[in-house]
Amino acid sequence: MINCRCIVLVGMPGSGKTTVGRELAKRLGLRFADSDHEIEARTGVKIPTIFEIEGEDGFRKRETQTLDELTTESDLVLATGGGAVINPLNRTLLSERCAVVYLNVPPHILWERTRHDRSRPLLQVPDPKGRLQQLYTARDPLYREVAHIIVEGGRGTPHAMVRMVEKEL
Ligand code: S3P
Repeated sequence: MINCRCIVLVGMPGSGKTTVGRELAKRLGLRFADSDHEIEARTGVKIPTIFEIEGEDGFRKRETQTLDELTTESDLVLATGGGAVINPLNRTLLSERCAVVYLNVPPHILWERTRHDRSRPLLQVPDPKGRLQQLYTARDPLYREVAHIIVEGGRGTPHAMVRMVEKEL
C-alpha cells in the first residue's frame, strides 16, 4: 500500500481521468477534484476561452499554480489535464507529493472517445487524429516518468480501471 496524502491521475485527453477519479474517490472515501474544473471555477470561464485570451502559456501558468495548491491537500483524488506533465516543475511536485497513476489508453481508442468533442482546444486543428497521436508519442514517456502506478486502459471499463488502481495502491 502506497502511503500517500493524495492520489493523482495523469494521462491523455479521453483516457478517463475524471470518470475513474470520481469513482475511485467515492470508493476510498476521499474528496475528488479536477484541476481543469478548478481553473474554470477560479476564472469563471471555460478552458477554450482561457486558451483564446491568454494562449496556451497563460493556461499552463494557471495549471501549475492550481496543481501546486491542490497537491498540498490531503485525502484527495485529483484528475489532471492531459498536458499537466509537460512542465518539469509539475512532474516534480506531482511525483514527490502524491501517488501518481498513469491511465494508459492507446491513441486509436483516445481518438474514438474524443473525435466529436469540441471542448479541447489542442485538438481543434485540421488533423486532430494526427495531433492526438503526436501528443501521445511526446507525452507517454513523461507520464511514465512521473507515475508510480501504470494502468493499461485499453478496452476496460472505467469501473475495471478503478479496480486495477485500487489493487496497486
Ligand atoms: C489539455 C487537456 C485538457 C485541458 C486542456 C489542455 C492537454 O484536459 O487541460 O485543454 O494539453 O492535453 P483533458 O485531458 O481532461 O482533456
